[in-house]
Amino acid sequence: MSEETTDETLANLLKEERRFEPPAAIAEHANVKAEAYERARRDPEGFWAEQAERLDWSQKWDRVLDWDDAPFAKWYVGGRLNAAYNCVDRHVEAGRGDRVAIHWVGEPVDSQGNADSRDITYAQLQDEVCRAANALTELGVRTGDRVAIYLPMIPEAVVAMLACARIGAPHTVVFGGFSADALASRLEDCQAKVVITSDGGYRRGAPSALKPAVDEARTKTSQNGHVVEKVVVVRRTGQDLGDGGWDDAVDVWWHDVVDSASPQHTPEAFDSEHPLYVMYTSGTTGKPKGILHTTGGYLTGAAYTHWAVFDLKPETDVYWCSADIGWVTGHSYLVYGPLANGATQVMYEGTPDSPERGRWWKIIQDYQVTIFYTAPTAIRSFMKQGREIPDKYDMSSLRILGSVGEPINPEAYVWYRHVIGGDRTPVVDTWWQTETGMIMISPLPGVTAGKPGSAMTSIPGVSAEVVNEAGEPVPNGSGGYLVLTQPWPAMLRTIWGDDERFRDTYWSRFAQEGFYFAGDGAKKDDDGDIWVLGRVDDVMNVSGHRLSTTEIESALVSHPKVAEAAVVGAKDADTGQAVCAFVILREDAGDGGDDIVKELRQHVRKEIGPIATPRQIMIVPELPKTRSGKIMRRLLRDVAENREVGDVTTLADSSVMDLISQGLDSGK
Ligand code: WTA
Repeated sequence: MSEETTDETLANLLKEERRFEPPAAIAEHANVKAEAYERARRDPEGFWAEQAERLDWSQKWDRVLDWDDAPFAKWYVGGRLNAAYNCVDRHVEAGRGDRVAIHWVGEPVDSQGNADSRDITYAQLQDEVCRAANALTELGVRTGDRVAIYLPMIPEAVVAMLACARIGAPHTVVFGGFSADALASRLEDCQAKVVITSDGGYRRGAPSALKPAVDEARTKTSQNGHVVEKVVVVRRTGQDLGDGGWDDAVDVWWHDVVDSASPQHTPEAFDSEHPLYVMYTSGTTGKPKGILHTTGGYLTGAAYTHWAVFDLKPETDVYWCSADIGWVTGHSYLVYGPLANGATQVMYEGTPDSPERGRWWKIIQDYQVTIFYTAPTAIRSFMKQGREIPDKYDMSSLRILGSVGEPINPEAYVWYRHVIGGDRTPVVDTWWQTETGMIMISPLPGVTAGKPGSAMTSIPGVSAEVVNEAGEPVPNGSGGYLVLTQPWPAMLRTIWGDDERFRDTYWSRFAQEGFYFAGDGAKKDDDGDIWVLGRVDDVMNVSGHRLSTTEIESALVSHPKVAEAAVVGAKDADTGQAVCAFVILREDAGDGGDDIVKELRQHVRKEIGPIATPRQIMIVPELPKTRSGKIMRRLLRDVAENREVGDVTTLADSSVMDLISQGLDSGK
C-alpha cells in the first residue's frame, strides 16, 4: 500500500470532524466504563473468565483458553452448559417468566390497522422450546445431527433454533429468500437430517411460498445421495401446497408434532466445544463456507457484547434488531445474545415498507423501542425517501442506535442519529463478521466520543490491528489490512468439513504472526481509531493509488441529489483500474438535470481529489443487492467492463440487472 495515497485518502476522510460525546445519562449508568479496556488488556483470559460467569454452567471449565493447536481454539475447556437453558429456563427459574421475551409483529395488518402480533413471555418460550425439543427427539433427531431451518421471521424460527440447541443438534439456518439450489447445497454440505420450514411467509403484503423450495431441494439432494428424513412444516400463510406438495412419508405439520408434545424437557449439559450451529456465508470461491460456532465461547461472546455494546438494561429496555434470522446478526443479536441476557425484544416479520413506508417507525413508537440495530443500506434507503416519513412518529423512546454490515457513510450516520435518534442517541457502528460470531470493533455508548464513519476501537477483550503487507502494525494515519491478533471466545472453530480451507482463508496470510486475516481493509486515523474500508477486494488501485470504494461512495452520497451509490474498479488500459460509479438519485432530484454526471464528477473531485474522479457515472434506478443488503459489486464490474453479466442467483431481485442495462441502453 503506497504511503502517499493512504495519506491522501485519509486526509479526505478526516475532513469529517464531527464528534459525538456520550450523553451524560448514558455515561453515568453505563454497563461498561472506560476501565474495562485496561482490565481486559492486563489479563484477557481473566477478563473472559469473568464474562463467562454471566452464563449458568452445570460444570465449570478447567482452562479458559486452549490455543495449543492454533488456529483451532478451545474455550472454557471442560465446562458444560446448555445454550437453550441459558437463553430461556434460567430466566423463568429466577422469577422472570412473565417478562416478554419477544414482541412479535407480523407483516399483515387488518382493516383497523392492527398487526397480526403476538407477545411471548419467557415462560411461554420455555414451554414451546421444550415441546419442540421433545418433538424433534421423537422424529429421530439425536445429539450431533444437523437440522436445517428454512423459515420466515416468525416465532417458530427462534423456537426451532433453541430446540435444536437444547438437544445438542447443530442447526443451520438458511435464509428464507435463498433459492432451492442454495438450500440444497447447504443441506448436502452439512448432511442435514431434518428440515424445519413453513408453508410460506408474508413479504410486501403477499404470501410467498417456502415449502415448494424444500421439496425441490430434497429432490436435488437425493439425486446426489443425501436423504432428508423429515420435513417439519409450520403453518403460517395457510396457502395451498399444490398437487404433490405433501409427502406423507416425510412431511409433518409443526402443530401436529409440537403441540402434542410434552412441555417438560430436561436440558442436557453439553461440552463447551459442542457444535451449536453452522452458518453458511459466501467466500471468494463459488462454494459457500459453513462457519462453525460452538457453545460456551460463542454464547459468552454474544451475551457479553450484546450487554456491553448496546448497554442493555434488561428490566427497562426494549431492544430491536431488524436483521433476518437467516444471517449471523439474527443469530447473535436476535437469538443468542438478547435471550441469554433476558432482554425484551421486538421481532418483525416483514419488509420496512409494508403496508406503508413508515412501518418500522410505527413499530418503534408502538413498542417504545429503546435500542435499535439495523444496516446502513436500510438507513440510506430511508434517507432517499425523505425525513417526512419518520418525522410523523414519536421515537423519543430510543436511546441507542446500532449499525452493522458495511461501513456506514458519515452522511448516513449523521442522518440516522439526527432524524431517527433525535440527536440524543449514540450510534454504535459495529464491525464484525459471520466468522467472528460477535461484535469486535465498536464504540461503547457510555464511553466513546463517536466519529461518523468510524467503528473506532476494538471492544474490551478484543485485539484488532491494522497491518501492512509484512504484518507490521501501521502507524496512525495509515492504512492496511484488518487483523485480529488474539483469539476471542466466539471465534469460528473451523469451516464445516474443511479444516484446510479454514487455515488457508483466515490464517495463512499472516501465518508467521498468527493473526486472523479478516479480508477487510482499514485505516487508523491520527488518534488511532479504526475506519473499516470494506473488503480488500473492493479496494481499487488507480494509477498505483489505492482508493476505497466506500470512500467514493460516501462522497457521492454527500451530494444533495444522491440517494445511494456503488463504486467499482473497472479494468482500464491506462490507469490499471478506473473508478466507475452507479448512482441512484433522490426522488426530489428528478432526473438530476442535463449536467448531473458532470456535476457529480466535479463533486467527487472536490470531496476527495482528482485521483478519485469517476471515469464513468451511471444513473440507475436500482442497485443489485444480495438478500442481506450487500451490493453485488461483481455484477456492476461486469457492466462497467462491458462483459456479460455473471451469475445473478444470489440477488434479492434478479430483475435489477435488467433495469440497469435498459437504463444504460436508453442513454439515461
Ligand atoms: C462488513 C455481518 C464496515 C465487512 C455481521 C465484514 C462492516 C463483512 C461492518 C462481514 C461495519 C460488517 N463497518 N464493514 N460496521 N460490519 N462489515 O459475515 O466487510 O455478513 O468483513 O457479517 O461485512 O459480513 P457478514
